[in-house]
Amino acid sequence: MAISKSMAEALNKQFNEELGSAYLYESMAADFYSKNLPGLANWMTAQATEERTHAQKIHHYLDENDERVFYAALSEPQAAWETPLEAFMAALAHEKYITKCIHDLVRKSRKEDDIATEIFLSWYVTEQIEEETSAQSMIDKLKMVGGYEMGLYQLDKEASRRRE
Ligand code: FEO
Repeated sequence: MAISKSMAEALNKQFNEELGSAYLYESMAADFYSKNLPGLANWMTAQATEERTHAQKIHHYLDENDERVFYAALSEPQAAWETPLEAFMAALAHEKYITKCIHDLVRKSRKEDDIATEIFLSWYVTEQIEEETSAQSMIDKLKMVGGYEMGLYQLDKEASRRRE
């Protein structure tokens, strides 16, 4: 059973939101690199890679439903954040926005009695819990570190180990 045209459009919009997320995290990585925090930059680069896989899954789902994806223009992301804590707080706020987008899509699929899309989206619902938790965990650590440079150095080292 094919998905509705409006569902295809809504998923296409989410496809672009995921690419926009990658763009935002790449910008945060660039900011961290410029401030000599390569570990935090690595964390953000890994996050951006994850976002592109989120977009690809939607791409694949649309393909399977004989719908094509359309690339929208991405808005220019913020280029610098006052502190690492501010950047991660912005990342968490962004993830909360994405969670809302996913939940809206689930509501739409329910309204359309589109069981296949609802089940497809369930992966994203679970993933968003993880996305918010990992940003929150970095916020908690950065708060613990406070203004101690040695603590930030250690946290940067820890973040350099993130691979996916
Ligand atoms: Fe694809 Fe971070 O949500």
